[in-house]
Amino acid sequence: MTPLKTSWQAPSNIAIIKYWGKYGNQLPRNASLSFTLENAKTITTLTGEEKYASTNIDLVFLLDKVENQKFGQRISKWFETLLPYFPFLKEFKWVIESSNTFPHSSGIASSASGMAALALCLCDIASHFKSRSLETLTFDQKASFIARLGSGSASRSIIPFLSVWGKHSEVLSSSDEYAVNIDIPSVVRTYRDTILIVSPDEKSVSSSVGHGLMDLNPFSTARYVQANTNLTLLLDTLSQEDVHGFGKIAESEALTLHALMMCSDPSFILMKPQTLKIIEKIRLFRNETNLPVYFTLDAGPNIHVLYPQTVEPEVLPFIKSELLSSCHDGKILYDKVGKGPEKLS
Ligand code: PMV
Repeated sequence: MTPLKTSWQAPSNIAIIKYWGKYGNQLPRNASLSFTLENAKTITTLTGEEKYASTNIDLVFLLDKVENQKFGQRISKWFETLLPYFPFLKEFKWVIESSNTFPHSSGIASSASGMAALALCLCDIASHFKSRSLETLTFDQKASFIARLGSGSASRSIIPFLSVWGKHSEVLSSSDEYAVNIDIPSVVRTYRDTILIVSPDEKSVSSSVGHGLMDLNPFSTARYVQANTNLTLLLDTLSQEDVHGFGKIAESEALTLHALMMCSDPSFILMKPQTLKIIEKIRLFRNETNLPVYFTLDAGPNIHVLYPQTVEPEVLPFIKSELLSSCHDGKILYDKVGKGPEKLS
């Protein structure tokens, strides 16, 4: 049999309403919403060669042509969880060749884009086999479901522009099992996400540890209610193209995520002094100009500056003159809302 082979690229995403807390088999405690990015992507080629004995999962993971055993082991564990849906995974030796369009040491996690690109490759290859599992789902829903089992936020990277993952009363088709896209007002398509790299280091605490800490966090129940309420409010601001209302919720969500980590046991402070310095400058600039420039943060110190394209001519000079000097080695990534994954072969 000729080897099975396919290539996909998938983008990273930045959550505006944050997913922080999970249960069961990678199910979210609250619904989340994210911008799908355009420039930060993973490109993955998956090749499967038939084996004589179908025993264990057998794979090699190459990042930029170099074997990466740490991520390879994570993918092996993920593949084990996929066997009920894709039993053929045991019958082939898999070679996964991946590269990212964003630099290694940029503090940008590659798990969302990486798992999404690989989930798309897997679903593509699965279509060669007669399997009835997940047959009620569309191709995108299936890829999002599979990506979710690798990394929760990866489920959102399958969807263009604006993605919602988690059951929510205001989003009819929403599900805890996969992400869906929602109608987007035109202003959203123009949003910029300028990523200020304060520290290129890996996260000081993994997402899975962070999610786990929520189980004993005294504010967790209130937080899950708040996140779902914030999603309702955010959808309202989007439908009215209220860019200030949108930004206010985005900042509050980011700071809440960080506050939750600060008051967990053990406690983690994920910001650096430069993060706070940049936040103060963004707020000062906004107060002085009334331009809709807001920020969000992942579970780390880097700042995502969010603004619609219309204000780019004022915002970019501000970033260069006021914020660049607080970034590690002057590192900035210019990204924007993007159109989602693409099949390459
Ligand atoms: O997908 P995970 O398990 O890496 O969790 C991601 C959590 C945040 O990035 C902090 C928030 C989110 O919704 O993406």
